[in-house]
Amino acid sequence: MNGGVSLSGSEEELKIYFTDFDGKFKARLGRVVATSETSSEEFGTSSPYTCRVLAEYDRELMRLIDSGMLLAVRNFKTKEAGKNRYTLMEILRFWPEHFGLRGLKDYQYYPLQFEVIEQSVGDWETSDKSTMIIQISAIPINYDLVTGENHVFGYERGFSYPVVGERVYILNKEMIKDMYNRKVLEKMGFSSEETSSNPWKDPRLGTIKMFEASAENIPIYVDYDSLVRYHFGIFAFTGGGKSNMLSNILRRLLIHTPDTKVVIFDISCEYPFLLMDLFADKRIPSKIILEHKAGNAREFYNSIVKPKLFEDDPRVIKGMEKIFSQNKVTHYVQELMRIPTFREFLDSIALLKSENQNRLNYVEALNEVEILTAKYMIEKGYIETDEIDREFVNKLVAAAPSIVTSYKIHEKSGLYGWFETRQRMTRYFLETEIDTSGGLTTEDIQELVEGETRLISITISDPPTIKQIVIDLTQNILAQRKREFKVKPYILFVWDEAQEFVANPANVSGIDRQCSTEVERLLRQGRKYGLGGCIATQRIAHLNTSALQQLHTYFVSTLPRPYDRGLISNTFMIDKNILEKTLEFTPGDWLLSSYIATGLANVPIYIRADNAEEEIEKFLEKV
Ligand SMILES: Nc1ncnc2c1ncn2[C@@H]1O[C@H](COP(=O)(O)OP(=O)(O)O)[C@@H](O)[C@H]1O
Ligand SMILES: [Mg+2]
Repeated sequence: MNGGVSLSGSEEELKIYFTDFDGKFKARLGRVVATSETSSEEFGTSSPYTCRVLAEYDRELMRLIDSGMLLAVRNFKTKEAGKNRYTLMEILRFWPEHFGLRGLKDYQYYPLQFEVIEQSVGDWETSDKSTMIIQISAIPINYDLVTGENHVFGYERGFSYPVVGERVYILNKEMIKDMYNRKVLEKMGFSSEETSSNPWKDPRLGTIKMFEASAENIPIYVDYDSLVRYHFGIFAFTGGGKSNMLSNILRRLLIHTPDTKVVIFDISCEYPFLLMDLFADKRIPSKIILEHKAGNAREFYNSIVKPKLFEDDPRVIKGMEKIFSQNKVTHYVQELMRIPTFREFLDSIALLKSENQNRLNYVEALNEVEILTAKYMIEKGYIETDEIDREFVNKLVAAAPSIVTSYKIHEKSGLYGWFETRQRMTRYFLETEIDTSGGLTTEDIQELVEGETRLISITISDPPTIKQIVIDLTQNILAQRKREFKVKPYILFVWDEAQEFVANPANVSGIDRQCSTEVERLLRQGRKYGLGGCIATQRIAHLNTSALQQLHTYFVSTLPRPYDRGLISNTFMIDKNILEKTLEFTPGDWLLSSYIATGLANVPIYIRADNAEEEIEKFLEKV
């Protein structure tokens, strides 16, 4: 390489697009290698080729370069005069190489090996370009940068092949900012000279990780309307920062959109803490719905989960008091249902029989239920138009397991689920036995959603109860929106610990299956009616694939299992090598990719999310 490689003279204008880190980055495309296998069911997709870039060694450069940065190399499509086309590539990794060390062989005399290694240490600190080099591997992102006269430029989607031997440029901060954020900010109508992690001042999610070393924070924005309406997913192992990220997003969504509503299915009971500042805020109408009635702030405090760091923090209960005193805490009550008659019950058995007519043993099992019912009616002198009673339900519940076993009803069948859930029939009799005052039924929750309330956390850890609410609420709200032809305000449904709600329907039965199907339906149909969904989970291997395919934006952090990464790679078309990088992440680091909510469709970017606990801390300082 010679001196002509730096950005200078007539190439001054390249500075508009690229950075060479004050002359430190001088590189050329060394090799383009076709990928032998571009897609595998198990391990994911990869781009059609990978590139090897050689850069002159510079000690500083090792600090400044970062994976995720975008490189540009002129490509074969460059034709028109005055225009240049560059293939854009993303840096996967980079490493320094020492010429002397390459010559080292295992069979060589050990003292000699040591000698050479020891001598090389000092070299790294120099800028000796004849013995050292920086190697970079990168993959195409399927966009060209097209530049014309008067600094007009744009991005064009499509496959192109870079010219081997050509100079390699790094897209500069301004270009990255513009690429990811300009369109989003224009749509949101937000602009600011300075960026801030304070959610009230800045709708950003965090910062872009590249150029961190040059001590500049480039904020990253997403278009909240598209994020909500086209659904999003958050995937990371436990402790990877999912709930933190989610509360981060929800906080900004509520502050920076005028009327979007949020309904959280909070099975791990974390969100009253994680969004405490918003719940305590008088300007934001909100409700927390617990499983049981909390008589005072202390009981409320006891029924929610706090992170370890805050467990003995006396300020937390004060924060909870602030929420409780605004009447924002309530509890769930099951709908009071009309008690069915024996005839209605027998009709439902007849229906089950016809649904299972191909399996004789199932029909016989249901015959047993009919016999049990008939015997009971005779014994008590009931007729068909009489209502069933609690004792009858108890008898049915007691008989269910032995019927299931003796007729070999398969664990994954719908009928198995039916027998399993007969206990639910006792809810017909709750009416007279529990105090329902002050609580909310599913119908009441629906009214809240349709009213002024913007933030609702259904903080219930009992799986069957919260799943039933998911089923009823999503069904009702979807039906309501269809009747009204309404799209606004947008409503976002959030399923954290989503493996509980969207299991692969082939693997589960009963209420789990129904819940998964309803969530899938909401994701499929909701878009048309302004109903969005968010799915956050630590394992995606056993989830409902059709539901996952509805997500248009994803945040991915460390997923230790290769199978999970493969599935993400295949489902969302992210290069598997880019996903490998997530193994090096710490909590708060995310790979963000979106078809719709970021500036450039489906170009993955590494970001650093703002820490939601900082907001909690700020709130607690003032409480
Ligand atoms: N953006 C972030 N910045 C700094 N620390 C974070 C960030 N996100 C998460 N963490 C840390 O990781 C811990 C686990 O986060 P959490 O959201 O509960 O993970 P998950 O829901 O994936 O299990 C948090 O308590 C916090 O200390
Ligand atoms: Mg969590």
